[in-house]
Amino acid sequence: MENKNTNPKEIFEGYNEKYDQKLMIEHDYDGIRELDNPPPPWLMWLFYLTVFWALGYAAYFHFFHIGPLQAEEYKIEMAEAAKKYKKSDAETKQIVLLTDETSLNAGAAVYAKSCAACHGPKGKGGIGVNLTDNKWIYGNSPENVFKTIKNGTTKGMASFSSLPDKKLIQVTSFILLKLQPQKATDTESNTNSDN
Ligand code: HEC
Repeated sequence: MENKNTNPKEIFEGYNEKYDQKLMIEHDYDGIRELDNPPPPWLMWLFYLTVFWALGYAAYFHFFHIGPLQAEEYKIEMAEAAKKYKKSDAETKQIVLLTDETSLNAGAAVYAKSCAACHGPKGKGGIGVNLTDNKWIYGNSPENVFKTIKNGTTKGMASFSSLPDKKLIQVTSFILLKLQPQKATDTESNTNSDN
């Protein structure tokens, strides 16, 4: 539908002719005239602010290289994470069983407190598997036993990563040297097929 009425006074209720004349720009293109209608000051200030912000940003990151760019930041964070989540020495190194009484008693204490509920006070099993026989699901090398205790398993063995490695080595020693009648010399291990 064509609107024939081009008289602004009739189209807009609040039309203010004087105001319009003040804003009218001089040029005239085939009868098309233009108002110089600037955006409100708050918007302009916001705009200037972004310009200044961009200058500061460019200076900080690009001209003077004070702050790290995304890629550098990523590298820094990855390096920090690698440090923070570094595998404990004991996990990567060979575990040396502790044979002194103090350590074995400490291991026994950890066992009584954290393990006996599932593995039985004498390690004969219960909820957890028997730790005194020569059947091993995850292997009976000190490293394997240590890892099983530290990381737990998906089949009900809790993870004890919250205990310090020292305590884990103590309890590992206790299991392999005290609970195990065959001691750690028995190398037979039933490897679980789905592990
Ligand atoms: C919530 C019960 C529970 C607690 C507590 C628990 N275990 Fe276990 N543990 C299990 C179960 C169940 C298994 C068998 C896991 C499997 O088959 O994956 C197991 C398996 C193990 C194994 C692997 C045995 C093998 O044949 O390879 C070791 C070693 C072990 N536990 C030591 C410990 C020690 C040491 C503690 C205490 C620090 C402990 N467990 C506490 C339930 C428990």
